[in-house]
Amino acid sequence: MTKKELIVAGVMSGTSADGINVALVRIPGRRASPARAAAAFDLLGHAEYPYPKKVRSAVLAAMNARQASVADLSRLNFLLGKLYADAILATQRNFGVKVQLAGCHGQTLYHQGEARPFLGRKVAATWQTGEGAIIAARVGVPVVSDFRPADMAAGGKGAPLVPFLDYMMFRDPHVGKIVQNIGGIANLTAIPAGAPPADVFAFDTGPGNMVIDAVTEKLFHLPFDRGGKIAACGKPLDKIIQEILRGAFFRQKPPKTAGREEFGEQFVHDLLRGCRGERKQDIVATATALTARSISEAVRLHVLARKQIAGDARFQELIVSGGGARNLTLLKLLTAELTTLGLRLRLSDEFGLPAAAKEAVAFALLACQTWHRKPSNIASATGAKRDAILGKISYP
Ligand SMILES: Nc1ncnc2c1ncn2[C@@H]1O[C@H](COP(=O)(O)OP(=O)(O)O)[C@@H](O)[C@H]1O
Ligand SMILES: [Mg+2]
Repeated sequence: MTKKELIVAGVMSGTSADGINVALVRIPGRRASPARAAAAFDLLGHAEYPYPKKVRSAVLAAMNARQASVADLSRLNFLLGKLYADAILATQRNFGVKVQLAGCHGQTLYHQGEARPFLGRKVAATWQTGEGAIIAARVGVPVVSDFRPADMAAGGKGAPLVPFLDYMMFRDPHVGKIVQNIGGIANLTAIPAGAPPADVFAFDTGPGNMVIDAVTEKLFHLPFDRGGKIAACGKPLDKIIQEILRGAFFRQKPPKTAGREEFGEQFVHDLLRGCRGERKQDIVATATALTARSISEAVRLHVLARKQIAGDARFQELIVSGGGARNLTLLKLLTAELTTLGLRLRLSDEFGLPAAAKEAVAFALLACQTWHRKPSNIASATGAKRDAILGKISYP
């Protein structure tokens, strides 16, 4: 298949259910494989569109498997298709760019990466919603969506998929890098110095913004702690953080994934109960420090101490992306934690990749791979038995 330059829209909406990120990316004609050098694309523009309040509530309700109605889920799929298409069209207008292809992650309603017994068989399952056919029809270009099932069909956990971009962009013959995204959940990709794709590993470190958001909402009636200002006025409750970090998820060895199942409503309920009587800003500071501490503990226990690479990995940098990069208190706490581990914190923006755009860019690259019938899962990151071409294509 010939590989001409392609202009691709990547669309992401994560577990925070805060809204839609769109990135417009130019991908040069040569083969984009993770084995190639960086600068495999140009970011032409990116934009963020918060979900309207009612839509956000509907999305959060849809994630609550026990209450969701099939009719609403079905309608939400088509509604989100329209919203994703509108977001692409608006971004195209703003930047004066016309895309030829789109990759849309969709909104995850349910993710169970491990097979468990169900009706007499063992199944794993995942569900991202946002109808590709609707996006294709409205934008007038082919759309790749539903990326995760093909990796699971190949024996993987269906996540994480962003390591494809991480490896392409950040691999370095001399400097080991940890690429840390702080979305609703926080996850890292570890790329040892000079590593082939098979040595890349990735896992969820625990809560990102999800717990901070929920606590801020409950105590201050705000959707998130803008700039980390509330946490900056508080003092973290160390005892509570230590107790949480003794929990099963944090001790579990990678690969591991987390979601609202681990750090959603129940977790926040227990945290608030444990903090009863404490100052409100101290509780937000505690949630913020929990994210910082869980990241540094994950790095210490599950990256730096790994036997296969200890000594020669030369991990020197941790590169932060995601909405959490805008929480200055979180960054300050994390910087202090990392300094004790001999790591330097950098922002993905320093590498030309705005923190908020990174995951959207990743889905533009994955869509391009699929369009060229190339695989894009990093099998060592997802646990898949083989490389897989990800996603389904809808034509306009
Ligand atoms: N200015 C800001 N100050 C502090 N936190 C912010 C700011 N902007 C975004 N965030 C945080 O980032 C989250 C969204 O991050 P994002 O990377 O989109 O996560 P996800 O991939 O889960 O949707 C918000 O819910 C909020 O907690
Ligand atoms: Mg988001």
